[in-house]
Amino acid sequence: MAKINSHYQKLQAGYLFPEIGKRVRAFAAENPSAKVIRLGIGDVVLPLPGPVLEAMRAAVDEMGGADTFKGYGPEQGYDFLLQAISGHFKSQGAHVEPDEIFVSDGSKCDTANIQEIFATDNVVAVTDPVYPVYVDTNVMAGRTGEIQGGRYGKLVYMPTTAENGFDPEVPRIGPQGSQGHVDLIYLCSPNNPTGAVMPRSSLEKWVAYAKSTGAVILFDAAYEAFITEPGLVRTIYEIPGAREVAIEFRSFSKTAGFTGTRCAYTVVPKELMALNDKGEKVAVHGLWNRRQTTKFNGVSYPIQKAAASIFTEAGSKAIRENIAYYMENAAIIREGLKAAGYTVYGGVNAPYIWMKVPGNSTSWDFFDKLLKEAQVVGTPGSGFGSCGEGYFRLSAFGFRENVLEAVDRIKKRMKP
Ligand code: MLT
Repeated sequence: MAKINSHYQKLQAGYLFPEIGKRVRAFAAENPSAKVIRLGIGDVVLPLPGPVLEAMRAAVDEMGGADTFKGYGPEQGYDFLLQAISGHFKSQGAHVEPDEIFVSDGSKCDTANIQEIFATDNVVAVTDPVYPVYVDTNVMAGRTGEIQGGRYGKLVYMPTTAENGFDPEVPRIGPQGSQGHVDLIYLCSPNNPTGAVMPRSSLEKWVAYAKSTGAVILFDAAYEAFITEPGLVRTIYEIPGAREVAIEFRSFSKTAGFTGTRCAYTVVPKELMALNDKGEKVAVHGLWNRRQTTKFNGVSYPIQKAAASIFTEAGSKAIRENIAYYMENAAIIREGLKAAGYTVYGGVNAPYIWMKVPGNSTSWDFFDKLLKEAQVVGTPGSGFGSCGEGYFRLSAFGFRENVLEAVDRIKKRMKP
C-alpha cells in the first residue's frame, strides 16, 4: 500500500479560512433571515477597473486571431510585464532586473512553494502571529517537528505583539547550527494580520543579520500598495545589501482586485546565494527558475496583459482609487471601534484592523459572539498563532454600506 506524507498529519485541524467559512455557513443555515456582513477573509469586492478590463478584452481578442494567438508563454512571464514591474521598482527607489522577476498565479502559492528549494534541515523563523501558509507549508515539508501547546518544536517563533510595537526582535547572531541561529526568515510588511509596517531601522537590522549569518529573508510585500504614510519602506530592496539576502513576494490580488483573476510576482536577485551540501555557494535564482520551469507553465496572456495595464497612467489611477476606497473603510472601522472603547491597531498602512478582544474571552469566543450578536464575521487572532490569542482581525475589504453597518452594529450590540 502507498504511504502518505505523514507530515500532513502534523497540521492543525483545518486551514483557518475554510474553518471560518464552515462556522458562518452553519450560522446562516440556522438563521436564514440574518444579514451576515463578512469582514473575515481579505477578499476584494470592487470590480476590476475599466483600464484593466480593456487590456484583458483586447488580449482575449488577440487569442482569437491566427496571427496574434499565443500558445505556451515564457514560464517566468512575458517581457512586457517584467519590464513594467522592473520600472515600478525603479520608481520606488529599488533596482530589480526584469529577469529577476517571476510572474505567478499568486503570492500564497509562491510563499508556499519557495521553501521547497531550501534544505529540510534549515531552521525557519516566523513571526507570531503569522500568515498561516508560511507555517503549514513548512510542516508539510517536514521542517517543523511536532506541535505542542499550539507551537511546532523546530520552528522559531518571533512574538509581534503590542508590547514590542508589532516589530519582531532580530535573533542573536551566531554560526549555523548554534543556539538561536535561523536560516530562513519570513517577514511580512505591511503585516497580515497586524497591519503594522516594519520600520526602516528594523529592516536594516534584519538585512545585517542575514548578511552576517547567511540566512535568507522571505519578504512578503503583498500589501505594499496600501501604505499611505510617506517614508515607509515599500520594498526590502530599498535597504542596502538586501539583494544579497532577500526574496520578495508581491501580488496583484489586493492591489488591483485580482483575487479571482490571479496574478503575482516574486523577485529572486541574482546575487542571492545559499549553500549546497558540499558547502559550496549556489545562486538561488537558478534553482527557482528550475523549479518554475518544471512545475509551472506561466500565467495566461490575457491576465498578464491585464496586470501590465495597472502600470499605465489610467490603470494606476484606477487602482489607486480602489485602494483609497478600502483605506477609507479601514479608517471607518478603526475610528468607529476606537470611539466605542476598543483598543485597535493597524488600518493606516494596511487593509487590516487588529483589535484587542475585550475582557478575558478567547478570540474564537469573540468570533462566535460577534457572529451571533452583530452578524459580523472577522478572523480570530489565535488562528494566526498563539500570540494572536486575545486579538481579532477585521478586513477593510467590503462595500462601504456594509462596513458602516458593521461598525454601527458592533457599537450598538457589542459593548467592550
Ligand atoms: C487573508 O485574509 O489573510 C488573505 O486573504 C489570505 C490570502 O491572501 O491568502
